[in-house]
Amino acid sequence: MEKALIALNRVEHIRKEEKNYHDHCYDQYELFKEGSWLHKPVKAVLDLIPFIQKIDQPKVLDLGSGVGRNSIPIAQAIKDNGGQVVCVDLLDSALEKLIDYSETYQVRDVIESVKADIGDYQIKPNEFDFIIAVSSLEHVVTEEKFERVIQQMAAGTKVNGINGLVVNSEVEEIDLDTNESLNALMEVNLSTEKLLNKLRAIYRNWDILQTEVKRLEYTINRGEKPVLLKTKAVTFVVKKSGRSDN
Ligand SMILES: C[S@@+](CC[C@H](N)C(=O)[O-])C[C@H]1O[C@@H](n2cnc3c(N)ncnc32)[C@H](O)[C@@H]1O
Repeated sequence: MEKALIALNRVEHIRKEEKNYHDHCYDQYELFKEGSWLHKPVKAVLDLIPFIQKIDQPKVLDLGSGVGRNSIPIAQAIKDNGGQVVCVDLLDSALEKLIDYSETYQVRDVIESVKADIGDYQIKPNEFDFIIAVSSLEHVVTEEKFERVIQQMAAGTKVNGINGLVVNSEVEEIDLDTNESLNALMEVNLSTEKLLNKLRAIYRNWDILQTEVKRLEYTINRGEKPVLLKTKAVTFVVKKSGRSDN
């Protein structure tokens, strides 16, 4: 009981800090302008746009979409072939900006915004042609939920459809004033090897299009404190083949 309570308090604490960080970021930095990670869409996602454009009325899901850094370019690319992008995020600040930006970039009709926790969002089997989740899956409450969400993503993808994931692993946070190592504010902080093994197991029988592990470092603010965030970001892009059993 005590353990469950500690785990719950930990998740509440992480969610509060992550909300503060993202609310500030989405308010301060503009999409597609220099100065933050909102500057450009993720290359692995952009590279898949020609594939999605070939599909008639493609259905795309963006889990933890934020303000639309990746979904807006996708929406622009599939607007003329009747496509739809469903964007899921749990923060009002993200979804409000997503709607504003989708008006600015003239894709309001293509984007559907859903306020939900990724861990509770239900994906119907064979519903989507393309599912992306960039730096968001590691924020579901537990490792079990993490696996279940990815299994649902796999089952929710049509044959020949694609899943594109970027997941942070081995995340460390260091107080830049004191050099002290802090608790990383990541609900599911797996070792890179364990993460890759899980992904390979869930997506067995899919065609692997890209696996890449990048060491990245950012300076972020946690409250007033400057904090160095170190991560090994795993990019994993897979295509569902006819022989996939999920
Ligand atoms: C680092 S941002 C990345 C946003 C976007 N994927 C991108 O690449 O620009 C992570 C986003 O995931 C959202 N998020 C985190 N945990 C979530 C959860 N459990 N359910 C839904 N959204 C979540 C956050 O609110 C935030 O907008």
